[in-house]
Amino acid sequence: MKMAYSSLFQRYERLYEKAIEEGNPEKARFFALQCAGLLRKLASEELQFSHYYLKLAEEWERKAENVDTEIKKRSNGIERLITTSNVTWEDVGGLEEAKKLLAQAVGIAMAKVPGKFKPWKGVLLFGPPGTGKTLLAKALAGSMKATFIGVKVSDVLSKYFGESSKIASSIYSLARQKAPSVVFIDEFDALGMRRSAMEDAGRRLLGTILAEIDGFHDSDRVITLASTNAPWDLDEAMLSRFPLRIYVPLPDEKGAKEIFAIHLRGFPLRVTLESLARIAVRKLYSGREIANACTFAVLHMLEEMNPELSDPLKVGSIAGKELTVRPLEAEDFRYAFRRVKSPIKKELLRKYEKWAKEYGV
Ligand SMILES: Nc1ncnc2c1ncn2[C@@H]1O[C@H](COP(=O)(O)OP(=O)(O)O)[C@@H](O)[C@H]1O
Ligand SMILES: [Mg+2]
Repeated sequence: MKMAYSSLFQRYERLYEKAIEEGNPEKARFFALQCAGLLRKLASEELQFSHYYLKLAEEWERKAENVDTEIKKRSNGIERLITTSNVTWEDVGGLEEAKKLLAQAVGIAMAKVPGKFKPWKGVLLFGPPGTGKTLLAKALAGSMKATFIGVKVSDVLSKYFGESSKIASSIYSLARQKAPSVVFIDEFDALGMRRSAMEDAGRRLLGTILAEIDGFHDSDRVITLASTNAPWDLDEAMLSRFPLRIYVPLPDEKGAKEIFAIHLRGFPLRVTLESLARIAVRKLYSGREIANACTFAVLHMLEEMNPELSDPLKVGSIAGKELTVRPLEAEDFRYAFRRVKSPIKKELLRKYEKWAKEYGV
C-alpha cells in the first residue's frame, strides 16, 4: 500500500474504532465507509492487488452496515459493569472517619465546584482484609445518584486477558459519557505485583488506568476509587494518582458493637453487644470475622432448636419450613468465637499502621 494511503487508512480505522467505543453509530459508519472508499481507490490504482483490496473494501462496507450491532456487542460487556447497589451507609458499622472522608471527596468531585479548585481524581481505600472496603464502595454506590462502575482487577485480567487495556479505556469512556461517575477498582494491588503470569497484561492495564486518570479534566466529574489490602505493593506511579488515601482499620469496640448489631438484626439477644465487641477486638476480628461469628452463633442456636438440621436423612424436608428459634446466648457465641480465627497478626497490624502514618491522610 502506498505510504500516504496507508497512514490515512490507519487514521480512519482508528477513528472508526473510537466511534464504536464512544457508541456513536453515525461517526463509526462514516469512517468505515471512508476505509472502504480508500480501499476501492487502491483497487483501481494497484491492479495486481485489486482483488485483495476489493475484498477488504467489501468487508468495511459490511462493517459500516453493522455498526449498531458492533456497538451493542461491545457495550454489553462494559455496561454490565455498571453496578446498582442497595447497600446503605447504615449497613457499614464503625468507620466514621472513612465514611466521612469518602463521602466528602466523592461529593466534591461530583459537584460543580467554582473557580480553580481541583477535586481529587483518585481515592485509595487501604487496610486489612475484611474491614469493609468493598462494602464502603457499595454503600457509596447505593447512596449516590452517580453512575457506579465496579471492576475487580482479577476479573478484568482473567476475562479480558490480552484486551485488558482496551477494556480499561472503554470503562473510562463509558464513565465520561455517563458522568458523574465513580470507577471502583477492587484489588488494585493485584496490578502492582512483580511476579505473576499476568505481568504483561497487568502492566498494560495499569498503564491505561493511570493514563486515563491523568487525562481527566476537572469538569469530567469522574473519580476513581481503588481498594487494596496490600498498600505497600503499590509503587510511586500508582500512589501519585491517589493523593487521598483513606485507612480502613480493624474495628475498635464501638465499631465492633455496631457491626454485631448490623449482622444480628432481628435476633433477640441474651448477651450484651458490648461484651461481644470486647472479645472481637481482643481477637483482632475484622468486620468479616464478626459477620462469620454471627453466622456461627445463629447456626448453633438453630441446630439446637431444630435437631432435624443435623440429620442428613431429614434435611431434605426442611426447605421452606419455618425454623424454631430462641434468643442467642453466651454459649452460642462461645461456640462461634472458637470457630472464627482472625488471619491478622499483631505484627501485620503494625505494618498497616506504619503505612497509614507515612502515606495515609
Ligand atoms: N464495617 C463493616 N460493617 C458491617 N459489615 C462489615 C464491615 N466490614 C466487613 N463487613 C462484613 O464483611 C464482609 C466483607 O467485607 P469487605 O467489604 O468485602 O472487606 P474488604 O475490606 O476486604 O473489601 C462484608 O460483606 C460484610 O458482611
Ligand atoms: Mg474487598
